[in-house]
Amino acid sequence: MKIFKDKHILQKEILKTKGISFVPTMGGLHKGHISLIKQSKKFKFKTLVSIFVNPKQFNKKSDFRSYPRNKKKDIKLLKKLKVNYLYIPTFKDIYGFKPKNKIFLDKSSKRLCGKFRKGHFEGVLDVVNRFIEIIKPKYIFLGKKDYQQLYLIKKHIEKSKIKSKIVECKTIRENNGVAFSTRNLSLNKNQMKIASNIFYYLSNLKKKIKKKNGQFKISLIKKNLIKIGAKKIDYIENYNLKNFKKVKNSNKKFNLFFAYYIKNTRLIDNI
Ligand code: PAF
Repeated sequence: MKIFKDKHILQKEILKTKGISFVPTMGGLHKGHISLIKQSKKFKFKTLVSIFVNPKQFNKKSDFRSYPRNKKKDIKLLKKLKVNYLYIPTFKDIYGFKPKNKIFLDKSSKRLCGKFRKGHFEGVLDVVNRFIEIIKPKYIFLGKKDYQQLYLIKKHIEKSKIKSKIVECKTIRENNGVAFSTRNLSLNKNQMKIASNIFYYLSNLKKKIKKKNGQFKISLIKKNLIKIGAKKIDYIENYNLKNFKKVKNSNKKFNLFFAYYIKNTRLIDNI
């Protein structure tokens, strides 16, 4: 595995290949990332993984500082997975140039996480747009756990007529149902149990909504989640995956999207 810190040296190397399959990450690698990398390796292009904890997508400095990092362990894992290239840029390497494409922010960026984390998606799209310009990947592998992010990146690529294609990868879960996330590294055993109980509670809720074809009383659900151990709930809402519109009538297809805190750790998922 070749490691790059400088985009110009990386670009020189990429030019020698037929194309790149790209897995963008912020490190703290887990089974979700491993699954993205394994998918990428099935394609005929070389796999490039990036590790960059992007300060612009954190709406709180404290969250950026406490975001779990483990570069040594990550590099060891990526070598084991026989990834071709690893790009670990500096802030200047990413933000020290003016990208050609402007960011297209679909209006759905104001909902769900966009409502509760001001500037978050602007930061995500800015960094992804820059990565695309540097790497010009044939494919980009993204997980459905962060579905709103995936949808907005897709919209940006569509509107800006970028040639890279998004490969949507399924959410990978722990045996206890909780979706793998770098943020899980901040949870202790008891907090993990709470996350698992919340997952099962909301999975059952979704089944009930589907069966009864009915509305759900959000205030009651939030109260129950607090009883289970959540500190705060940002949102619980039904969205259609295709058009990312809110679903009011539950006989339509939807996923239940939710974001909540256990102590200071914010977790998101959709089921
Ligand atoms: O999902 C993530 O880890 C990040 O938001 C991404 C796509 C790597 C951009 O920083």
